Amino acid sequence: MHRLFWIVCFVAALTAGMDAQAPQNPALAGAAPPAAPIPDTNPFSSPADIEQGGALFQTHCSYCHGSFGEGGRGADLTAGVYKRGGRDPQLYASIRNGIPGSEMAPVRITDEEVWKVVGFVKRLGSQGLLEKAPGDSTAGRLVYQKMGCASCHRIEKDGGNLGPELTEIGRRRGLKFLTESIVKPEADVEIAYRAVQVLLKSGQTVSGIRLNRDDLSIQVRDARDNLRSILMDNVQEIRYDKPSLMPAYTALNQKDLGDVIAYLNSLKGAQ
Ligand code: HEC
Ligand code: HEC
Repeated sequence: MHRLFWIVCFVAALTAGMDAQAPQNPALAGAAPPAAPIPDTNPFSSPADIEQGGALFQTHCSYCHGSFGEGGRGADLTAGVYKRGGRDPQLYASIRNGIPGSEMAPVRITDEEVWKVVGFVKRLGSQGLLEKAPGDSTAGRLVYQKMGCASCHRIEKDGGNLGPELTEIGRRRGLKFLTESIVKPEADVEIAYRAVQVLLKSGQTVSGIRLNRDDLSIQVRDARDNLRSILMDNVQEIRYDKPSLMPAYTALNQKDLGDVIAYLNSLKGAQ
């Protein structure tokens, strides 16, 4: 009799201890993980959590999604648009379970760590919204025009197609990334914009971005924004020496650079 009483007390104390550890959210206490419902909002989204999420992202995700989330083997996570949904529980599900039928496997970290990564991924999708550039965006717009950026980039309806569209660049990218894009464009080039140099047997060279390649031909968007299909029979060599078509604007003075970044930072697209 006595012994049974003590066992009951012991179990009761244990259970009480478990509750005390997770007062706000018993679903996360781990009693029955597979059946636990996914909370509607991220329970681990303090600045410290997000910072830890960032470190986990670099280890487990960046080799597919890029260190800025810009994509590569994995999807671009900077646009704030998600095929599988962008609400907290949906992002949690994509990351916790992986994406069936794709390269992305379930990640081997704890549930709590997955939430921290969710916080970081959300931030990737809205980098620019958190930062305000100090420069003069009106002056920056003139720098943009003067430097001929529009020959390769489209904003709204105007501009070329050799580089990524910049209509929403101020939402997608933080200031550090913008600066690097301009002074060191080789640093982080999205696969879709990787430059190619095609040396022809005739001695000519066609530079551009590679669109497609098969056994018979290679398709390139050349530096004048023309689509060209080149027969492999005419090709001497295909090279990828210079990863970005974008020139490095190292000669821009600090004022112009600051202003053009302020201009880009002001481009948030249609909200
Ligand atoms: C082996 C490569 C690989 C790794 C590692 C990887 N992913 Fe992915 N990820 C992908 C691919 C490929 C897709 C696109 C799948 C599809 O849409 O079919 C994807 C899709 C996603 C999506 C959904 C995007 C959308 O549009 O809905 C999210 C979110 C995501 N990954 C986050 C992560 C996070 C966070 C990590 C690290 C914990 C990670 N991924 C690790 C390759 C990877
Ligand atoms: C000859 C074509 C060309 C010119 C001119 C050019 N760019 Fe680019 N730009 C590119 C290409 C290609 C990329 C993508 C590859 C890369 O990131 O380097 C790019 C990338 C960028 C990015 C990153 C976009 C993203 O989605 O991550 C920014 C920002 C940018 N350019 C701004 C500028 C500004 C500002 C100027 C003018 C001072 C300029 N570019 C001039 C071709 C060009």
